[in-house]
Amino acid sequence: MLVSATEMLKKAKAGHYAVGQFNINDLEWTKAVLTAAEELRSPVILGVSEGAGKYMAGYRTVVGMVNGMIKEMDISVPVALHLDHGSYEGCLKCIDAGFSSVMFDGSHYPIEENIEKTTELVKLCHGKGLSIEAEVGSIGGEEDGVVGMGECADPKECKMIADLGVDFLAAGIGNIHGKYPANWKGLSFETLAAVQELTGELPLVLHGGTGIPDDMIKKAIDLGVSKINVNTECQLVFAEATRKYIEAGKDLEGKGYDPRKLLKPGADAIVEKVKEKMILFGSDGKA
Ligand code: G3H
Ligand code: ZN
Repeated sequence: MLVSATEMLKKAKAGHYAVGQFNINDLEWTKAVLTAAEELRSPVILGVSEGAGKYMAGYRTVVGMVNGMIKEMDISVPVALHLDHGSYEGCLKCIDAGFSSVMFDGSHYPIEENIEKTTELVKLCHGKGLSIEAEVGSIGGEEDGVVGMGECADPKECKMIADLGVDFLAAGIGNIHGKYPANWKGLSFETLAAVQELTGELPLVLHGGTGIPDDMIKKAIDLGVSKINVNTECQLVFAEATRKYIEAGKDLEGKGYDPRKLLKPGADAIVEKVKEKMILFGSDGKA
């Protein structure tokens, strides 16, 4: 059954590793991420953006699909179903639909409004056993129409939001959604250390996990990051494997056009990519 992300991230923080949030986009994605987690005995967070929720025919559809898969696939590792970059309204809908965790992305509100809405959602989530993530300092790049500038969070604002009782916090440290540009200056470990200094045991979140060099990932974990989000990298390997299948003319061989065959190379590529990330993050064997 679904669990909130609170316990798995507390263990990750104490154990100096990170749990991956892998965004899901459809049935094949969900099955691939769960397969990887079960094979590696890793806790896992399934991230659903508001756009992906719409694409998958609504939050209740996603909850039914994920709960069904956990049962039918005999998934025994801890799985959290998490709204990613949620609006206030999106959080309320997902809480109602049966998600086990939500992110309230209040980084574009004035800090006072971010605090007011976060306070309300913390009370609601904890009253229903859900975990809640907050964000300070918007993440750069574009995801599902949400465009951030890649700011560095103000550690004092992070402390203010952390004191509201959120379970984990995404602090912008120069990270960007999507592919990193060649002139990217890297993560601000100075900001991360300053945020960690003020927020203590609170698990920190690194968004924009795609394309961050392994040594930076390791350093971020050492400095307090316990959750790392990855989406684009899985989309890229899915697209490349599918392209190769079609360019090889496999879709024209026999019933190669059957979606269960056509989508399989991409799904298999996601399983391998997710396993690679779980090993890099150190969450394998931690279920
Ligand atoms: O919230 C989702 C992640 O931040 C995705 O980032 O697509 O750059 O891996 P990414
Ligand atoms: Zn993100």
